Amino acid sequence: MARGHIEIIHTNDQAIFDLESVGWSYDSHARKLSQDSETDAISMVLNLPPTYRRWAGTFEQTAELYVLSGYLMIGGVTLGAGAYQLLPGGVMQGEWRSDEGCTVWMKTDGSPRLHPSVGAGEKLPDALDTATMDWIFSPIPGPPCGLLLKPLRVDMETGASTFLSGIVPQYHYPFIEYHRCVEEAFLIRGDIRLGTSGNMEAGSYFYRPPYVSHGPFYSHTGMLGLLSTDGALDNHYIEDPFRTPEQNRADSQHEAPAPNLLTTEN
Ligand SMILES: [Fe+2]
Repeated sequence: MARGHIEIIHTNDQAIFDLESVGWSYDSHARKLSQDSETDAISMVLNLPPTYRRWAGTFEQTAELYVLSGYLMIGGVTLGAGAYQLLPGGVMQGEWRSDEGCTVWMKTDGSPRLHPSVGAGEKLPDALDTATMDWIFSPIPGPPCGLLLKPLRVDMETGASTFLSGIVPQYHYPFIEYHRCVEEAFLIRGDIRLGTSGNMEAGSYFYRPPYVSHGPFYSHTGMLGLLSTDGALDNHYIEDPFRTPEQNRADSQHEAPAPNLLTTEN
């Protein structure tokens, strides 16, 4: 398996590594959450120190970032906490600067290797100010009232997605479920207790391959999290939390592919 099952880790427990080895500037510190051993695609939290500078450059494949705290300037555009920026592969990213330092969640579709001064003249898409985006009710059937989404990125061919998920305080999700796609989550704030795997708080993370049984959930204070999938998300409900991925896979092998109900136009 290119990326194994991780459930649950905390960002602060992960070792600091330097992205200097893949072409980034000195002082490009990160904590790795997970990485694909075949493609080098990585999910990580960047800890960029005050007076940080990174030269302009491109990635070969698309990446995305969300500013958790502080300010990051990319090519003269300032991104504050809650800003989401898509970094398409092959498109030049201007110089990165952070005068006061910042913390950033980042996920790449391929190697985070930075190629300086290479790339088409194409401009980066505008960043999203997620704080001012409207919440939508989940278009994916299943969750009880109290769970809302802000879609950030959806691949309409594969259904792969990244979205913010918000849930209200005292939210009870009484089901055991599995999905036929990868489910990956990083908690920005709040709490959630996962019946099969423990408590999550700000900075907690999991990477769950397809067909893994999980649930039920409860949140005391509510939650804001970044979730990603590698395909269209659908919810399969089961009674037994100890059902193996192999059993779940066998049960759903004759089902039609999950419809992609999520778009950035919802
Ligand atoms: Fe789930």
